[in-house]
Amino acid sequence: MARIILTGDRPTGRLHIGHYVGSLRRRVELQNSGEFDKIYIMIADAQALTDNADNPEKVRQNIIEVALDYMSAGLDPSRSTLFIQSQISELTELTFYYMDLVTVQRLQRNPTVKQEILLRGFAENNDAGENRPGIPVGFFCYPISQAADITAFKATTVPVGEDQEPMIEQTREIVRKFNSVYAPVLVEPEILLPDNCVCRRLPGTDGKAKMSKSLGNCIYLADSEEEVRKKVMGMYTDPLHVQVSDPGHVEGNTVFTYLDAFCHPGHFAEFWPEYASLDELKDHYRRGGLGDVKIKKFLNSVLQAELAPIRERRKELEKDIPYVYEVLRKGSGQAREVAAQTLSEVKRAMRINYFDADVLASLTAEQSEKYSGR
Ligand code: TRP
Repeated sequence: MARIILTGDRPTGRLHIGHYVGSLRRRVELQNSGEFDKIYIMIADAQALTDNADNPEKVRQNIIEVALDYMSAGLDPSRSTLFIQSQISELTELTFYYMDLVTVQRLQRNPTVKQEILLRGFAENNDAGENRPGIPVGFFCYPISQAADITAFKATTVPVGEDQEPMIEQTREIVRKFNSVYAPVLVEPEILLPDNCVCRRLPGTDGKAKMSKSLGNCIYLADSEEEVRKKVMGMYTDPLHVQVSDPGHVEGNTVFTYLDAFCHPGHFAEFWPEYASLDELKDHYRRGGLGDVKIKKFLNSVLQAELAPIRERRKELEKDIPYVYEVLRKGSGQAREVAAQTLSEVKRAMRINYFDADVLASLTAEQSEKYSGR
């Protein structure tokens, strides 16, 4: 069976290094590994609209930002199909049929949806104390639309962060249900999580659990060298490490978490040859006598080494915006053909393809016979 990747992001802002270590870096590796027959990378604007009805322009503006981030991080349009979700109307059609295979109760149990309802302030008693008018139906149903995204391309592999696990599980349920009610045309996807645990959820520069634009604790792929340096030097470390001589804590220390996610032994050889590995550095920090500023400077060098080529590619791409839109237009055209093929198989399995020539002939004959006897 062909191995097919589908994944994507909501275009609600520029991508940050949490996105990068959590999924983008892996996607590029998977692309370059040549192990997959097809790779689809989707800018999920329609999904973003499900909880941004009050700010659709934000979604619209960020499509190009995400495309620039994708391509500068190494996604290559000659090897991966980059497309915009809303341009594939077949996806909404599939969603409507899948809606019949899922209960409201099942959606209500989806842990990510549950959490997002609170976070977005859609619930009546939300944490933020905001008063939003309730849960948009489209938002509530987005796991079903995500199942459409995945199955339309017969994806076998979905590389995403662990917050997306419930979506993949729901997709698998929908596939099993569809295939058993109708005919086995859909493919059950597998999730592909980041292999490195620290990469699954990179904390913000302030040590908070997640990078988020509203908290202002992100390092963006598009940040300048100086912005990155400032953010690193202002990072949260170990509050108990007051004097340089104090023993330090590595667990929960954001600077070390970032090093876990980014640094490899080559970085020591290049930037800090006094240490051979991250373990040696950690040991010294734990013993005491190692100041935070030194470690931050090292982290800055590591991050700059990783981000500089991305930044340079972005600068080049920004000079040719029409090219980037052309990539998306072409990709959307290709994606649409594939989704249309799956939709036609789905409709055939559901026997709602009344006007296909063979179906029409037998349907006409069958119904004529029924009425001819009267
Ligand atoms: N829900 C994903 C996110 O918030 C975006 C997304 C939409 C997606 N459709 C998808 C991811 C299909 C993987 C597969 O980032």
